Amino acid sequence: MKICCIGAGYVGGPTMAMIAKQCESTMVTVVDLNQDRIDEWNSDKLPVYEPGLLETVKSARGKNLFFTTDIDQTIKDSDIIFISVNTPTKDYGEGKGRSADLKYIESCARNIAKVGGGDKIVVEKSTVPVRTAQMVKEILSSADNGYSYQILSNPEFLAEGTAIADLENPDRVLIGGETTEAGQQAVEKLANIYAQWIDREKIITTNLWSSELSKLTANAFLAQRISSINAISALCEATGADVDEVANAIGTDSRIGPKFLKSSVGFGGSCFQKDILNLSYLCQHFGLPEVADYWNQVVQMNEHQKNRFFQRIMEAMFNTISGKNLAILGFAFKKDTNDARESPAISICKKLLEECAHLKIYDPEVSKLSILNSLGIKEGDKRVHICNNAEEATNETHAIVLLTEWDEFRELNYENIFSQMQKPAYFFDGRNHIDPTIIKEAGFRLFRIGKN
Ligand code: NAD
Ligand code: UGA
Repeated sequence: MKICCIGAGYVGGPTMAMIAKQCESTMVTVVDLNQDRIDEWNSDKLPVYEPGLLETVKSARGKNLFFTTDIDQTIKDSDIIFISVNTPTKDYGEGKGRSADLKYIESCARNIAKVGGGDKIVVEKSTVPVRTAQMVKEILSSADNGYSYQILSNPEFLAEGTAIADLENPDRVLIGGETTEAGQQAVEKLANIYAQWIDREKIITTNLWSSELSKLTANAFLAQRISSINAISALCEATGADVDEVANAIGTDSRIGPKFLKSSVGFGGSCFQKDILNLSYLCQHFGLPEVADYWNQVVQMNEHQKNRFFQRIMEAMFNTISGKNLAILGFAFKKDTNDARESPAISICKKLLEECAHLKIYDPEVSKLSILNSLGIKEGDKRVHICNNAEEATNETHAIVLLTEWDEFRELNYENIFSQMQKPAYFFDGRNHIDPTIIKEAGFRLFRIGKN
């Protein structure tokens, strides 16, 4: 059995590394247009930071796991082709700012049709709008090359920062296929791969459209929980209730459950916002404006939360931060990843820069280039200094703004840090991450989410 995965990103790389590790007799090749990315996958400095990933890659690389830019030959040689390319929000034309841009998916389908090489199973691993498989199917069947293609939907549910654990022991694997006999055989073939390390009961099979829609729905429900608790955090700040106490109290109800109730500066990452906007656009498209508005509100509440946090900084610092140095601890959208896509840190830093603050930014894994690109500024811009550690970032600043819950921020000596800062010194904890007594005893004026 030979597998090809198109797209060596945050999903394609880790997912295929896990399949290769678990299925030693399966040949897995990950292809990408981006030569630098492929070179990094072939080195010890992987393009994706993820605990346990390097070990997983190393266990199979060069044996049954390969990374290459030789896309056409790999497609030709493979029995199963995963499409794991990006599906960003469209930034032009019809549906701009809402619908998913499927140009990369379409170009993969056209390439598979062009290259030929035999009958193949084509698997949508990327997150796509419901009914995308129809488009892939039409492109492949129009090739008229004598080969037959089965299209499957197999969305990925891993979260960054815990990708390896999620892949090793997922809550479920979802496979959607056509209800025809050939369709069901293809579903079975893919299920057999996962069944090499995952219990059969955890492998759910559905029709194509249910599978595609379940992925968007799962992300929408997860993000909705965060927006719900963040909405309550605003009321907590106004009334003296404590958002963590409220979350704990409601989370013990087994119908609600305790997970994903951590109030924060807002959710980030490349998918939640994009997928909800896409879901909402689909509802609009299918003539369901009230449903579209309902889901849109989850994104709007997230914007409101980021803005509220910024306003709190401004108010606490006498509405003037012009010329002041502020330390930004954490830039990734969550801990244990080098990914800053749609990180709340981007909006907060941009707003602070509009107020003419000077920012000293430190993140343990996000590269300098990625931070500068995210903020749309060039190297050498005097307003932003990227630091090598938290001590450097906090030295001679008026305030600390904690935006990512990296473990190492809990181990800092805040008394020492306070002594190097301008007074009064402020601590804005966007994750309610640091023990408040440590911060207060060190002398800081502390501000947290959903707490007075
Ligand atoms: P990514 O941007 O990290 O990687 C996509 C890769 O595809 C890039 O390296 C790009 O060069 C490559 N690519 C694009 N078009 C190509 C083509 N025609 N041929 C070869 N390579 C091509 O994206 P990602 O974060 O891995 O996400 C991929 C998909 O998975 C998206 O649909 C996303 O919504 C979904 N998803 C992501 C996550 C996550 O945690 N990042 C989790 C679940 C699902
Ligand atoms: C999310 C989903 O959890 C995955 O199941 C899904 O596969 C993935 O999106 C995707 O489709 O891309 P991810 O975005 O990597 O995974 O990370 P999460 O752990 O979901 O966190 C997303 C954001 O929500 C982060 O900014 C995080 O800090 C924030 N968050 C999370 C909260 O503010 N509070 C919480 O209680 C949980």
